[in-house]
Amino acid sequence: MDVKDKVIIMTGGANGIGRALAELFAKEGAKFVAIADLDMAGAETVAAGIGTKAKAYKLDVTSTSDVQGMVDDIIDTYGKIDLYFSNAGIMFTDAPDWNVYSQSDAQWQKIWQVNVHAHVIASRIVLPAMIERGDGAFIVTASAAGLLSQIGDTAYSVTKHAALGFAETVAITHGDSGIYAAALCPQAVESNMTKGAEGSSASVDGIMKADELARRTLAQMREGRFMIRPHETVEGYFQLKANNYERWIGGMRKMRRGQIDALGSPI
Ligand SMILES: NC(=O)c1ccc[n+]([C@@H]2O[C@H](COP(=O)([O-])OP(=O)(O)OC[C@H]3O[C@@H](n4cnc5c(N)ncnc54)[C@H](O)[C@@H]3O)[C@@H](O)[C@H]2O)c1
Repeated sequence: MDVKDKVIIMTGGANGIGRALAELFAKEGAKFVAIADLDMAGAETVAAGIGTKAKAYKLDVTSTSDVQGMVDDIIDTYGKIDLYFSNAGIMFTDAPDWNVYSQSDAQWQKIWQVNVHAHVIASRIVLPAMIERGDGAFIVTASAAGLLSQIGDTAYSVTKHAALGFAETVAITHGDSGIYAAALCPQAVESNMTKGAEGSSASVDGIMKADELARRTLAQMREGRFMIRPHETVEGYFQLKANNYERWIGGMRKMRRGQIDALGSPI
């Protein structure tokens, strides 16, 4: 999978990871990059920085009509979508009492809609034409929290496991129809989401610059990898989890205790 001459949609493209990926894809020869975000001012800034081959779209990824409207507009001009990068995401912590049941039903519904159901909505809109053509790509930004777990962020960890499961199912179900599916699973990356989280357990291995993450992500897309892991450490943690789940849970509990001792809270 390369981005040269490709028509690309990047959700959550106004900031952080989505912005860095969109800018890199444009630099590497994409034909068009849609910067799709709730944050229209940010999306317009990114699109203006890229120039004529980018356009900002104000949309909510949880709205079928918003996503359909953008896709129709792009197809009117370019005839197809080559890559849908379903990257927008949100996070809530378990604060203030740090239990797994701390968050309200409204928060669970919200994070489910953005971090999971938005991928389902997008797939319904873009996959049929890709499957008919026998060519197209669908990439979900999950997280290392979807492979491992993020201490103190129950709903985030759970929805990122689900997002990874969805991407995996796209690869299994539609790979034979020419669809390249992938899941991006980073650890901490510099963005609005990690502002102020420098001492948290998610940042134990440091916080990667978004530009570096984008370069590593594109390199792994070019290798055709399903599992895109820009942080090398994630590979080892994942193997440890797979090889000895009990020991891995013990290690995570130890890390949680260490965080509470050092910070007074798990993150
Ligand atoms: N930063 C990290 O350490 C990290 C690590 C692993 C995974 N991720 C994931 O990467 C993705 C991008 O996050 P980021 O770190 O760049 O954070 P960010 O907050 O900087 O960017 C997220 C973007 O998504 C947009 N967005 C949120 N809800 C939306 C909605 N309903 N409709 C449209 N746009 C919406 C926001 O406006 C924002 O521009 C997320 O899915 C996040 O969970 C981040």
